[in-house]
Amino acid sequence: MPSYAAHHKTAVPAHVAIIMDGNGRWAKQRGLPRIEGHRRGVETVRTTTFAARDLGVKMLTLYAFSVENWKRPQDEVGALMGLLEYYLKKELETFIRDRVQLRTIGRTDELPAGVQKLLRTTMEETRHFTDYTLVLALNYGSRTEIADAARAYAAAVVAGREQLTDGSWDRFSRYLYTAGMPDPDLIIRTSGESRISNFLLMQGAYAEFVFTPLLWPDFTKADLAAAIAEFAKRERRYGLTSEQVKPAPGATQ
Ligand code: FPP
Repeated sequence: MPSYAAHHKTAVPAHVAIIMDGNGRWAKQRGLPRIEGHRRGVETVRTTTFAARDLGVKMLTLYAFSVENWKRPQDEVGALMGLLEYYLKKELETFIRDRVQLRTIGRTDELPAGVQKLLRTTMEETRHFTDYTLVLALNYGSRTEIADAARAYAAAVVAGREQLTDGSWDRFSRYLYTAGMPDPDLIIRTSGESRISNFLLMQGAYAEFVFTPLLWPDFTKADLAAAIAEFAKRERRYGLTSEQVKPAPGATQ
């Protein structure tokens, strides 16, 4: 889907996606176990969810668990799943009170049954909130997503629901986990790493990137506001020339 912000020419990115990195290093710097960093990371998830909405963002996607994260030590994976359960139980009331819709992207059917159940309940109870959406990327990987979509698309062709003659991105993208979501306008990564790590590879085709050295537990509303200010200064051209995207002086938008 074309980005909402692109369409409406607004300085605030409608959809912000964040690669939350640096929990482990945050803990290490303090001589604490890694899980303590994740615990603090959950607090930042909470504050950032509401900070983004206050700043005018319509959709926030957080990379909470990747398909590669299963390979971490067993106790860390278990602790992350435990934190996710704790978070979902605790936030349901807040989501309802503050009208936050929850949705997920990723192979959620491979998550522990307890987490799946909480996700289903939370999504069901928040599905009618349309002003602001929090998207958790859980057991997410872009390549897995594309492979899954290709399989589903091929099945639809075999079933006669799609035509091979119409292989447009517009049609194909309906088979991605992100079906119906606008593309991210701004992708932020914390902790000083400048990579995309299999996150929204296709959807981020025209996204602006902001990399910050801050570790995720230290990321605040002011830092989000700074990333949004940086976004506002950038000129998004979508393959056009600067003259084409910049309205002539005096023109109204
Ligand atoms: C990266 O830190 C972060 C993760 C692997 C997962 C992010 C998870 C959370 C913020 C908590 C759980 C989320 C929710 C929504 C309840 P890292 O461990 O890679 O840090 P490092 O690179 O410093 O080791």
